[in-house]
Amino acid sequence: VKFFLDTANVEKIREFVQLGIVDGVTTNPTLIAKEGRDFQEVVREICSIVKGPVSVEATALDTEGMVKEAREFSKLADNIVVKIPMTKEGIKAVNILSKEGIKTNVTLVFSANQALIAAKAGATYVSPFVGRLDDNGQEGMELVKEVVSIFKNYEIETEVIVASIRHPRHVIEAAKIGAHIATIPFEVLEKMFHHPLTDRGIEIFKRDWENYLKNRSK
Ligand code: E4P
Repeated sequence: VKFFLDTANVEKIREFVQLGIVDGVTTNPTLIAKEGRDFQEVVREICSIVKGPVSVEATALDTEGMVKEAREFSKLADNIVVKIPMTKEGIKAVNILSKEGIKTNVTLVFSANQALIAAKAGATYVSPFVGRLDDNGQEGMELVKEVVSIFKNYEIETEVIVASIRHPRHVIEAAKIGAHIATIPFEVLEKMFHHPLTDRGIEIFKRDWENYLKNRSK
């Protein structure tokens, strides 16, 4: 499973890229706004740090506006992917953009039918939002299971990005199902490093090694 970082924070992106575990980045208007910086400047910086795909969301709601934004975004860097919301206007834009070779990530996907429509229109990626479904009392991962198995049945090339991840368990579930990508907030990625038995094990090895050195020098 590929790991994308779900953030527009360049310090965090840099930190995890240096560890060699980041395959791409996804942003959205909320995440960009959180940084309080110039939009184009942030996007350019992210694209220079990350080799893999960087999703940037169109904010227009009409096809023409989305296509215009997408064409502008794609000039910012070679690894730009344009996020398009799952609406009829959005799907029309995906169809146009796919023919122009501009990569798209259809976002705000909450049903398998929406994912199928997006794939048929030529989306490069679809993003089912698991956390928001869980928050709504539904089983988010059930949607991922459905989409992954349908795409497998028909050898659909569109990749599934498990989005709206809330905790490390979501990442394991996404990988077990065989989703192509999990886009992970840095707080969750940070948690994925740790286990209390690892910390305890390090303490014990350190203590035993120090005792050994002490006894040897006696
Ligand atoms: C990424 O593509 C999505 O925009 C993001 O995962 C949404 O996450 P949220 O539901 O925590 O806002």
